[in-house]
Amino acid sequence: NTRLRVLSGIQPTADSFHLGNYLGAVRQWVRLQDTHETFYCVVDLHAITVEQDPKVLRQRTRVSAAQLLALGVDPDRSTLFVQSQVPEHAQLSWVLECQTGFGEASRMTQFKDKAAKQGTDRASVGLFTYPVLQAADILLYQAHAVPVGEDQRQHLELSRNLAQRFNNRFGRTFVVPEAHIVKDTAKIYDLQDPTSKMSKSASAVNGLVELLDEPKRSAKKIRSAVTDTGREVVYDPEHKAGVANLLSIYSALTGRAISELETAYEGKGYGDLKKDLAEVLVEFVTPVQERVKSYLDDQAELDKVLARGAERAREVASATLAKVYDRVGF
Ligand code: ADP
Ligand code: NA
Repeated sequence: NTRLRVLSGIQPTADSFHLGNYLGAVRQWVRLQDTHETFYCVVDLHAITVEQDPKVLRQRTRVSAAQLLALGVDPDRSTLFVQSQVPEHAQLSWVLECQTGFGEASRMTQFKDKAAKQGTDRASVGLFTYPVLQAADILLYQAHAVPVGEDQRQHLELSRNLAQRFNNRFGRTFVVPEAHIVKDTAKIYDLQDPTSKMSKSASAVNGLVELLDEPKRSAKKIRSAVTDTGREVVYDPEHKAGVANLLSIYSALTGRAISELETAYEGKGYGDLKKDLAEVLVEFVTPVQERVKSYLDDQAELDKVLARGAERAREVASATLAKVYDRVGF
């Protein structure tokens, strides 16, 4: 395979993906299958860095995998697997932890943010070393490219530093990964607070559109999205953040250019835009939900798909780990 290799992961920490996860990440994963050799994992090891109910975690891991399949990750073209089924992730992570400076890890802003929320004393050491595990995820597969959003840049930088450091110390072992910035990645904002990004941790659930939520409820959330006191449907993120967000969602879901949408809504109001977008959304999520349901209805088949993915992942991961172990003197 001469294609560049890509790795990405998603945490099974919610009952459903939201629109931001899809339009900002998973949709690109699906497209990358045409051009790259793709490895995608449900990162359940990362999910236990915060408190998790075992039953809920197990279910969310399955539902996450089912959603990836339903959204277009093709297990014949991608290696789709669950992180905990590939023990090399934890094994490499330990070796990399021993190459990571305490001060270096302490500078990770995501840890600082997350730890501050729960109180630094209560935050787990796993939450602290989370970015090192993420580096292991990437380096195990010798990934050339990692599709990252702005929020993950610092972590990717750590992965690059660790790869270079290890290569310098022990001889060339890892590919140094690059950020894969996708141009048309939509950043999706909260429908009720269009200046902050849509997130599962949002306090106002009405601003969050979950793919597996009752379509009628999602439609209603779109129709009651916060806009502004103006009338014209124009894309102006600075002054009309709410309308701009609706336009980017609309454009991303239909493939119609934002300028084309502006023209189509000339002389019409926000109500028309919301009503139509609500319909577009329902049309998008309905078949996705049907496919998710069919994957979940056949647990044995889903398990088989994931077991096959883990087996393929391990072929690559175990080769990298063997080299690493040898290099460090095991
Ligand atoms: P959350 O921010 O809801 O906790 P995650 O951190 O699990 O979601 O994100 C999973 C993936 O979805 C990441 O690649 C992240 O960059 C992307 N993502 C999350 N929220 C958004 C958003 N509002 N817009 C675009 N992409 C997003
Ligand atoms: Na996040």
